[in-house]
Amino acid sequence: MTTQRIAVHLNQTHDRSYEVVVSPGIFAQLPGLLVSRWPGRKLFIITDNRVGRLYGRALLQNLRAAGADSALYEFKQGEQSKNAGTAYHLQTQLLRAGVKRDSIVVALGGGVVGDLAGYVAATVLRGIGFVQVPTTLLAQVDSSVGGKVGIDVAVGKNLIGAFHQPRAVYIDPTVLATLPEEEFRNGLAEIAKIALALDPSFFRRIEQVAPKLRKKDVQQLCWLIARAVGLKAAVVEKDEYESGLRKVLNLGHTIGHAVEASSGYAIKHGAAVAIGMAAESEISVRLGLMPERDRVRLMKTLRALKLPTAMPRIHKPTQFFDALAADKKSVAGGLQFVLPSSIGTSAINVSVPGEYIMDLLRRHS
Ligand code: NAD
Ligand code: GLY
Repeated sequence: MTTQRIAVHLNQTHDRSYEVVVSPGIFAQLPGLLVSRWPGRKLFIITDNRVGRLYGRALLQNLRAAGADSALYEFKQGEQSKNAGTAYHLQTQLLRAGVKRDSIVVALGGGVVGDLAGYVAATVLRGIGFVQVPTTLLAQVDSSVGGKVGIDVAVGKNLIGAFHQPRAVYIDPTVLATLPEEEFRNGLAEIAKIALALDPSFFRRIEQVAPKLRKKDVQQLCWLIARAVGLKAAVVEKDEYESGLRKVLNLGHTIGHAVEASSGYAIKHGAAVAIGMAAESEISVRLGLMPERDRVRLMKTLRALKLPTAMPRIHKPTQFFDALAADKKSVAGGLQFVLPSSIGTSAINVSVPGEYIMDLLRRHS
């Protein structure tokens, strides 16, 4: 028989556009918003135990009072829960509760909840809709937007996952009032990252406000969150699946992820990204990409935001190096980094000689 070729044309995708609403007090309006947008649908809130206690149980009660068929699932807070075991448990719970193709998952919490609940939504019944209700600053400025969902495995962070865009993102900066100060600072690291990678004027504004930023300064936060989300959304619109431009959002993450994983997740994501930005700017200066004066400005700003900048002691440099190589951003033939090239601009796909990393590690082992 001769060769037969059958083309499968798939370029007619449906519109997956969505809105990110940043509005103080919107949390209280959620039951009405969700019920009027998805009348008659089953709504499954997924959250962690801490956010469940603070916000989840009240949301469930109010959804039910508004007539929604809804349920709440909680898992133990923390990065250690962002794994296949928790995902499987949640998938099974949803299936047992009669999840349908038109049901909606409500991811209520920080980045761990958003990534995990989004992954559950992406996989259960081969994908159902979900909304993001981020409750940490980090999730509000970064992880709730853009559709990256996933879990960690022993080999590394976020290595199993999908691109699954939410149907909507509802951001209420007033919920940050209950956030521990350290977690608030972690969110500032992702704001600094977005500015460092993409926007010199945004970075200048952060430099100005850094010493007096408070988590209860709702007006200031609304502005910062909306600006960060706007910058991120513009990148995601151009390169949803990270074939090029979107890699800029991984600034600080190549070293950051390895720092996070090699600490057994004792160092939180935002803090690890701050350490990653500091180390990667050092490499960038050494490669002649970034002027030293810009690195100094970055370090000063990270310190003003009360973020860590020093690499932790790396007890097992080889293991750390392996974690870098396992990162999604590496390709065959070498370690590929996103590096800052100045305050507000960055370069993707930069090959970094292994010895630069080893030098960095030797100085910290
Ligand atoms: P997290 O979700 O673990 O939240 C941090 C802590 O804050 C938790 O203990 C949580 O219970 C608590 N918390 C959340 N909201 C609270 C509130 N309003 N009041 C009091 N406590 C509250 O961590 P995170 O820093 O939000 O997110 C980190 C995760 O996000 C990492 O897994 C990282 O890989 C992921 N991430 C994903 C993307 C993406 O694009 N998908 C981007 C950046 C980070
Ligand atoms: N946080 C990186 C991205 O969304 O691409």
